[in-house]
Amino acid sequence: MNDPVVAAATPPMRFSRIAGTGSYLPAKRLTNADLAAQLALRGVETSDEWIVERTGIRARHFAADTEQCSDLAVAAAKCALEAADCDAASVDLIIVATSTPDMVFPSTACIVQHKLGIAGCPAFDVQAVCSGFVYALTVADSMIRTGAANKALVIGAETFSRLLDFDDRGTCVLFGDGAGAVLLQASDTPGLIASELHADGRHVGILCTPGSVAGGQVRGDPLLKMDGQAVFKLAVGVLEDVARSVLEKAGRSEADIDWLIPHQANIRIMQSTARKLKLSMDKVIVTVADHGNTSAASIPLALDVAVRDRRIARGDTVMLEGVGGGFTWGAVLLDF
Ligand code: UT7
Repeated sequence: MNDPVVAAATPPMRFSRIAGTGSYLPAKRLTNADLAAQLALRGVETSDEWIVERTGIRARHFAADTEQCSDLAVAAAKCALEAADCDAASVDLIIVATSTPDMVFPSTACIVQHKLGIAGCPAFDVQAVCSGFVYALTVADSMIRTGAANKALVIGAETFSRLLDFDDRGTCVLFGDGAGAVLLQASDTPGLIASELHADGRHVGILCTPGSVAGGQVRGDPLLKMDGQAVFKLAVGVLEDVARSVLEKAGRSEADIDWLIPHQANIRIMQSTARKLKLSMDKVIVTVADHGNTSAASIPLALDVAVRDRRIARGDTVMLEGVGGGFTWGAVLLDF
């Protein structure tokens, strides 16, 4: 028989659940043809055919000169707050996943907090490049489970257009700007079921922006460098492994996944991951064609698109998977 004293002393289990999603894309949209025409003026040759065939990308959005990463983040955050029917004043944690912050410091999360007109709650950035959102969501989930927060804004926001080397056709056609956000809220039912994060710093050099600031000057190279094939090979391996591992942790199988939202870098990587997990591409949310690779913003952007077009419904099981510079990777399994 249950001991009533012990039962009364046991605190209820706390979980986290997504209460609302939001996203924002800058107004300036460039098709592959638009970008190819601009690159041609610099003597850099590319084509819509090459970009579509090798990546699945057809267009991307670039922030206006006047728009900062925090502006994109705030627009997405407001949209998520509205969807969750939540007032900014009740947010008690802000985490922004970004590799393109407004400033070296303070964090973009602090700037977002100020622009939302609130103060006092903890706010910080997570820097895990294209895995950033999965990292940030896992940190927010942990803080909610321990009672350190009740309502967390978790945002992925990027202005990668500012890091691009427009003389390097192997990278400049791949990336875009944007932001996605969720309001993650304490709940007595899950929500987030299982997650797993990884990094392997031996691969720092295959995807990096090696510049730094010292003495009032940029030291080193402030433009993005990528060994595309090395990243591709690592990505297809780890995305399968981490998905299986998270499913095992959750006591579920591939068949339980209603929707897979992988980081949106290349349609070929997504197709390969889906094949390995025996998922039809109908179950994979794909936004890379319209957004390009928006790094930490790509997963919450894709999530918001699929929630708003009603593919993802309450109760659906969703696997989010990130992979990128660091080398970092991770996955989150959740019941929406
Ligand atoms: O967000 C973090 C995760 N990032 C990723 O997951 C990116 C992973 N990597 C990739 O998606 C692919 O490796 C790329 C899309 C970057 C490149 O595709 P690829 O099939 O690996 O092409 P490649 O680098 O082997 O290049 C093939 C050819 C080369 O020409 P040659 O040497 O065969 O004559 C390139 O110079 O394609 C050429 N090329 C281009 N041609 C036209 C490279 N970029 C372009 C371009 N337009 N934009």
